[in-house]
Amino acid sequence: MRKLAIAELKPGMKLAKTIYRNDDGRILLSAESELKEWHIQRLAEYSCESVVIYDSDIESEEELVLKPIKDETREKVVTLLKQSVKQIKSEGTFESQDLMEIVQRIVEYIIADSHVIYHVLAISNHDKYTYSHSVNVCVIAILIGIVMGYDRNSLEILGIGALLHDIGKIRITTRILNKAQQLEPCEYDMMKKHTLEGYELLKESIHISFLPAHVALQHHEREDGSGYPKGLIAKDIHQFAKIVAVADVFDAMTSDRVYKQAAPAYLAYQEMADQVGTKYQRTVLEALTKVICPYPKGSIWELSNGDRVMVTTVTRLECLAKSLDQPEQTKIYNLYRLCGVKVVAGIHEINIS
Ligand SMILES: [Fe+2]
Repeated sequence: MRKLAIAELKPGMKLAKTIYRNDDGRILLSAESELKEWHIQRLAEYSCESVVIYDSDIESEEELVLKPIKDETREKVVTLLKQSVKQIKSEGTFESQDLMEIVQRIVEYIIADSHVIYHVLAISNHDKYTYSHSVNVCVIAILIGIVMGYDRNSLEILGIGALLHDIGKIRITTRILNKAQQLEPCEYDMMKKHTLEGYELLKESIHISFLPAHVALQHHEREDGSGYPKGLIAKDIHQFAKIVAVADVFDAMTSDRVYKQAAPAYLAYQEMADQVGTKYQRTVLEALTKVICPYPKGSIWELSNGDRVMVTTVTRLECLAKSLDQPEQTKIYNLYRLCGVKVVAGIHEINIS
């Protein structure tokens, strides 16, 4: 599959993913549709920025089963989140049952298929960022939780905490939330309060466990005490908050925002790996490698020793890439466990979403 801007579309291309309307979540154009000229014009009229089409050069059945959750589920979660936010604004609390049920469905779906790996989906529509980000963090956190061996009940609690980790932001003024420039110190102090606000909201609204409220409270705490709101150190931060912290930062780094472009997954991962022990827990970072897909099958990379390699196999445990420069020796690298060399650049990065 390949993500293309509307201007790049041509009649005859086949849609790989259903396109939904931004306002009410209804289907605009279904997956498998063959694009006609009027479809492309209609998409442009709806301010749709990009779509995913099939690309016969890189298509394979294997990639198709790696999607973290179905598009309909993603849209349903976003709709429920919007309803909850509306309810909180009018009533000060919200009914968490529907959200809990859909998180249970997501956990069930992911557990059922051990091949599910997270592919970064660059979110180009800024208005949708907050909701899409919450769903991404939920999915990544559940995947990490599975690798770390949590049971289904714990995964559901982790998932709802991850989905609602930033819910306190609804009590922060949008002027600060959407500010493109760096925040002033007093504005940053106000922004930090979304953790406390989220804690208060979830404490009142989710009765099955106090942990989602603690995830909201602690997801900006860091191993070395440099986080907020309390500057807790590693031993005092709940494990679920450490998982959501990693999922949150990874998704933020790999998403387009109004003030920055999305970083490729491998660069985001490398930057986070450099902060293991100071910001992030090693166990969680190791689990992240197994659930994201920084080096998709078919992509070509340059290593710090000068070798160019092409990825041939991707699973949660290994990412095998063969050298293109030494074909007669068929040198194979596992990009998850490189010794003495690192990936320095993407030469042909396949965008699978
Ligand atoms: Fe946050």
